[in-house]
Amino acid sequence: MLPCVCWLQPLLVFLSSVWRAQGEHCPASCLCPDAHTVDCSGRGLTRLPDEIPLDVRRLLLSDNWIPRIPSDFLVLYSDLVYLDLRNNSLSHIEPGTLSTSSRLVFLDLGSNNLTEIPSGTFGQSRSLIKLRLSNNPFLSMVNEDAFMGLTSLRELELERNALSGLQVGALSQLPSLRVVRLEGNPWVCNCNFANLFAWLEENSHKLPNGVEGIQCTLPMDGRQVSLSQLSKDSFRECQITLTLTDLLIIIFSGISVSVVAIMTSFFLASIVHCFQRTSKTTKGDMEESEE
Ligand SMILES: *[C@@H]1O[C@H](CO)[C@@H](O)[C@H](O)[C@H]1NC(C)=O
Ligand SMILES: *[C@@H]1O[C@H](CO)[C@@H](O)[C@H](O)[C@H]1NC(C)=O
Repeated sequence: MLPCVCWLQPLLVFLSSVWRAQGEHCPASCLCPDAHTVDCSGRGLTRLPDEIPLDVRRLLLSDNWIPRIPSDFLVLYSDLVYLDLRNNSLSHIEPGTLSTSSRLVFLDLGSNNLTEIPSGTFGQSRSLIKLRLSNNPFLSMVNEDAFMGLTSLRELELERNALSGLQVGALSQLPSLRVVRLEGNPWVCNCNFANLFAWLEENSHKLPNGVEGIQCTLPMDGRQVSLSQLSKDSFRECQITLTLTDLLIIIFSGISVSVVAIMTSFFLASIVHCFQRTSKTTKGDMEESEE
């Protein structure tokens, strides 16, 4: 009897642990170190695992080959606070995917294959504090309203992407921003960069390595310079170019208006002249008939 119990005990422990794990629905080949964490990092996954518990709060999916997230993903996992998708194969985020992530605090989309961050991508993720978008080698387009609604965002990582420019509104719309990483992008210091440059100078305390940590290419000679070597004066020509364009437009529209005015008065004068001649002829005719 006694040896039998000794043999049964480990079996029972094993069975109960299997049963417990099944009760928590830990996805196959993932680890669930606590009741609210699912760790599937580095498992060679080519899609999101099935059977992720609905009450998951920390979901670790880094170092896999996941190419897409279904747009209803965060509707299902509405308790998610921490989502790590670093080093996957995501090429785009479907609109609306992140619009319901009201509890999400941390989101890592670094080292993926994103090409563009369209307007309103993150919806009203009001809890989001840290957003990583670095090391996406084809990410060349970030919409001015890409981060709209991220009222709590403190840290934004956009370093080592393919950005040559960025509308300043994308950053200035973030009321809680404390840290922004922009280094390692192929920035071009042309006239489009002037507004961003002014913002970076004013907010250099938000850049981990200051403005000197960011390099850009000069459009004139293709030279790489650090932003600390430039000043507002470097972009002075842009204003002159703008006023020159404006001036040209003004001159051109002035000329057009004058030409139209001259043609109209000429036309009116001809009509008046014609009328006068006709009325004279009629008068002459009448006088003749009276005689
Ligand atoms: C990215 O993930 C792949 C595949 O899991 C892995 O082999 C590689 O080491 C990871 N790269 C980095 C920088 O972590
Ligand atoms: C990443 O995107 C580029 C251009 O959009 C494409 O050529 C490349 O095949 C993609 N790579 C992966 C791993 O999906």
